[in-house]
Amino acid sequence: MTEQATRKPFLYVVVCAAGIAADVGELIAAAQERDWEVGVIASPVAMNGFFDTAAVEARTGRPIRSAWRTPGEPRPFPAPDAVVVAPATFNTVNKWAAGIADTLALGTLCEAVGLGVPIAVLPCVADALAAHPAYGDSLERLRGMGVRFAEPYAGEGGQDGGRPEFGWKRALDLVEHR
Ligand SMILES: Cc1cc2nc3c(=O)[nH]c(=O)nc-3n(C[C@H](O)[C@H](O)[C@H](O)COP(=O)(O)O)c2cc1C
Repeated sequence: MTEQATRKPFLYVVVCAAGIAADVGELIAAAQERDWEVGVIASPVAMNGFFDTAAVEARTGRPIRSAWRTPGEPRPFPAPDAVVVAPATFNTVNKWAAGIADTLALGTLCEAVGLGVPIAVLPCVADALAAHPAYGDSLERLRGMGVRFAEPYAGEGGQDGGRPEFGWKRALDLVEHR
């Protein structure tokens, strides 16, 4: 059998700088249980203490990508079979919808639609930010491009002060089904 025939499907997990990113290992573990190979691409801000980068690299067996490669370097990951953005911030959703590609994470997202692979987004955006009209426009534009969004998650605690479940596996359900 050829290597192509035996390789697992490759999932890009794009991680943005939201507090919930600290738990992204749950998504990676769930994806690996479902037989995805995972490569993590993080926004530069997310690399600044939002999640345990060493633990993620140990779990995926690959370096996290955040900076652009130099022109002579090969592409670090295989082409994606699917892309998930989890958590997705207000900032990244708006820049992606506007076609801004000034970080590796955004460039990857802008290109992903043109690759024709399934893309799922788990937003983590406070209600006060989500009320900005640009955000609604961005969601509409990205949905129109075929991007699949999970229901809104504001990350705000209920009456008991605890944070509701983020439901990381929703990202896998969104890219695997339909
Ligand atoms: C502790 C902390 C938690 C944050 N959580 C969120 C969040 O849940 N959602 C969000 O949209 N922005 C959040 N932000 C703001 C983003 O980090 C900020 O907008 C940043 O520019 C996002 O960069 P990125 O989209 O490139 O990852 C948070 C910032 C801090 C310091």
